[in-house]
Amino acid sequence: MTYSRIAGTGRYLPERIMTNHDLEQMVDTSDEWIRTRTGVERRHVCADDETVSQMCIEAAKIAMDAAGVTASDIDMVITGTTSPDLIFPNVSTIIQHELGIPACTAFSLEAACTGFIYALSTADKFIKAGEAKCALVMGAECITKLVDWSDRNTCVLFGDGAGAVILKPSEEPGIISCHLGADGQYKDLLYYPVGASKNLAAAGTADARIMMTGNEVFKVAVKTLGRIAAETLEKAGVSKEELDWLVPHQANIRIIQAMAKRLDMPMEKVIVTVQDHGNTSAASVPMALDVGIRDGRLKKGQLILTEAFGGGFTWGSVLLRL
Ligand code: COA
Repeated sequence: MTYSRIAGTGRYLPERIMTNHDLEQMVDTSDEWIRTRTGVERRHVCADDETVSQMCIEAAKIAMDAAGVTASDIDMVITGTTSPDLIFPNVSTIIQHELGIPACTAFSLEAACTGFIYALSTADKFIKAGEAKCALVMGAECITKLVDWSDRNTCVLFGDGAGAVILKPSEEPGIISCHLGADGQYKDLLYYPVGASKNLAAAGTADARIMMTGNEVFKVAVKTLGRIAAETLEKAGVSKEELDWLVPHQANIRIIQAMAKRLDMPMEKVIVTVQDHGNTSAASVPMALDVGIRDGRLKKGQLILTEAFGGGFTWGSVLLRL
């Protein structure tokens, strides 16, 4: 049986940092409110001319280096993103070409904040089926370009960035178990009201902004993530005591703490980046993985549970051994 395994990771964060104090100058909020309600202290914001493909390319180069692979080794590119450069061509084709990767399967996948988990799970299937030998899998967002900077309910939450992993076949697992889900009944609780076939004329107007009923999103997120964590462990026949680390989606420190409590994990065993990155949507899990690997906390052989939740709602978790 062939499994897939992460061979290297990388991340890219835009140069510009916006602190809570900067936001105090823009909307009626306070550093104290943002820290205590969300855990966010600062976030990176992309430049006006910066794109998801540019950020992914930088993150991918680092991941390729870490995995010891070159462009010619890669035969699949998947990007989870809600803020691609263009509606088409899909952003993975831009990344593939710019990196000099030979023509291959390349597509982007839109599952809001769960985009990377969906992408990782998809690449895992291709590798297990023998249809890919070396996949570049990314989660990336220029989500701040969709933010209304005069709306204090949402503008304090989000940040930009890109995370990349190289996934390769392995005789040992690797990716142990993936658990994906979605339920469109919640579509009105978190959405962006402009698309290609709906409301395109509103792009660039005041109506084009992230719409969110925060407290309702919070409640469903905590409930759903708790349930899928339990289901993922059960499916894999793993007990929560066996977990070495939780690498969660970084939306809100209170959601992360609730998840850790549910899994009986002390916060010392949770990778937390929300204070520095904010909610970077599809980029949050791969960037958190990279942070933990590069600072030496996440080690080869350890058992890690990752999870995410986002607009739709979509949700997913991946249990893996590094
Ligand atoms: N600064 C100061 N006050 C703010 C504020 C801000 N940035 N944003 C909202 N408030 C106010 C509200 O207006 C409200 O005031 P009111 O009581 O006078 O009406 C009060 O704070 C409480 O608002 P509420 O929305 O109930 O707060 P909350 O404790 O639920 O926290 C979120 C708000 C958004 C931080 C929280 O609900 C959350 O994180 N939800 C999940 C969001 C998420 O994860 N989205 C992405 C999914 S991947």
